[in-house]
Amino acid sequence: MKMKSLYSKFAFITIMIMIVSGIISFFLSNAYYQVKLKQQNDEKITNFAFEIADFASKHPLISLQDYLDHIGAIGYQILMVNQEGDKQYFGSTFRKKDLPAALPEKVLQGDVYHGVSQFPHKTFVTGFFANEIKNSVGVPLKYKNKKYALFIRPDIKLMFNEMHILFGWLLVISILLSILFVLISTKYLVNPIRNLNKATKEIAEGNFLIKLDIGRKDELGHLAVSFTTMAKKLAKVDSLRKELITNISHDIQSPLTNIKGYLNLLENSDKSDQEKQQYLRIVHSEVTRLSNMTKQLLLLSSIESKKDLMEITTVDVTGQLKSVIHQYQWSILDKGIMLSFSLPDASVKGDPSLLYSVWENLLTNAIKYNRENGSIDLELLDNGTQIEVVIKDTGVGLEEEEKERIFDRFYRADMSRARSVEGTGLGLSIAQSIIDMHHGKIELTSQKGQGTTFTVSLPKL
Ligand SMILES: Nc1ncnc2c1ncn2[C@@H]1O[C@H](COP(=O)(O)OP(=O)(O)OP(=O)(O)O)[C@@H](O)[C@H]1O
Ligand SMILES: [Mg+2]
Repeated sequence: MKMKSLYSKFAFITIMIMIVSGIISFFLSNAYYQVKLKQQNDEKITNFAFEIADFASKHPLISLQDYLDHIGAIGYQILMVNQEGDKQYFGSTFRKKDLPAALPEKVLQGDVYHGVSQFPHKTFVTGFFANEIKNSVGVPLKYKNKKYALFIRPDIKLMFNEMHILFGWLLVISILLSILFVLISTKYLVNPIRNLNKATKEIAEGNFLIKLDIGRKDELGHLAVSFTTMAKKLAKVDSLRKELITNISHDIQSPLTNIKGYLNLLENSDKSDQEKQQYLRIVHSEVTRLSNMTKQLLLLSSIESKKDLMEITTVDVTGQLKSVIHQYQWSILDKGIMLSFSLPDASVKGDPSLLYSVWENLLTNAIKYNRENGSIDLELLDNGTQIEVVIKDTGVGLEEEEKERIFDRFYRADMSRARSVEGTGLGLSIAQSIIDMHHGKIELTSQKGQGTTFTVSLPKL
């Protein structure tokens, strides 16, 4: 029998367990009969046989025939052998009538035959039921000065009265019912697993919107819940991945198209040296853009893979912010931007180079997306358990729907303007990953045309 499904295996095993325990309990009760009950049973029958013999010898006026007939009718099987060796049966017949030839003679002479307790031990037969003369008790009997051998055993068929039959049915019905219930309950147990399996296949085929209605509170229910959560996450990862690929191909494609176009123009010898110089500059800047982009992509993926391997030390945030300002002094001046800052000493535990790149991106954004002669306000707050870095600019600001997307990879608001400003659109998504790794938060408020404020909060640990 091939059993592929969990259902049939489970049902099979349970039913096997029932059968095996049935067999074991049969053997045990059989052994109990052999060891204990057989002896008691023999004694009981022996006492009874002596009672009969006693009564018969004391009441010679009662016909022995009638008396034994009567006892046979009550529920006993009897064999009586007289001195001449004639046999006479009373009660229902024995299935096997063989007896050792010398036995009746011995009992006639006064021996007692304990056939019940001597009955051989057989594995599959409870001796109790064996309907044989051998399985009886023999006692001597005296009646009107004649000797007889009386062999007697209880008539099991008669002993099996209604009550016993009732118990028998009870047993049979309960076995059948438990098999039925095992089949049903196994189905109930295994069905959710089947559903889960189906769902797994759906996911493998790229369909993440699975619906599992396994409303259970046990382990399987928990599994189903985690499974749907996992499917949702996978769906998100999948859509992010698709988006990322479109973005990357687009963002790599456009500088490459530019480079190719300008290289074609450069091959044209009728261009003036001045024009050629200009084309070369453009090609150069596009190549730089590509190279920056790959660098940032590498950084992004390395951040995501090294989440657990950050180099945690004490980071002097104030010092870092000051050196970022220093680094971009020239472009602040270049754009005529007014920079004010208030930077009390504060430090956090974290990865210095990662945090540095966050400040760098936020400051360059505030410069890049600012207006001429605008201003930038830099503030550091320390409330004991966490620090807050607030970078406020008077720049172009953001629309509501842009605000929701600026942390996406490659997203750059206002594409017409974004073309003229250097950038890959990766800075903020990198910053967010880094802040996440430090268990912090990055938030912004912004108003179109007015300016933007970024607030980074980091726990001090
Ligand atoms: N201070 C700001 N004011 C207005 N818009 C901003 C500001 N900071 C970011 N943005 C918008 O969010 C977009 C994403 O910013 P992000 O830093 O991720 O990319 P980027 O600055 O364009 O390129 P990168 O930082 O990778 O060189 C920017 O293109 C810009 O449109
Ligand atoms: Mg940026």
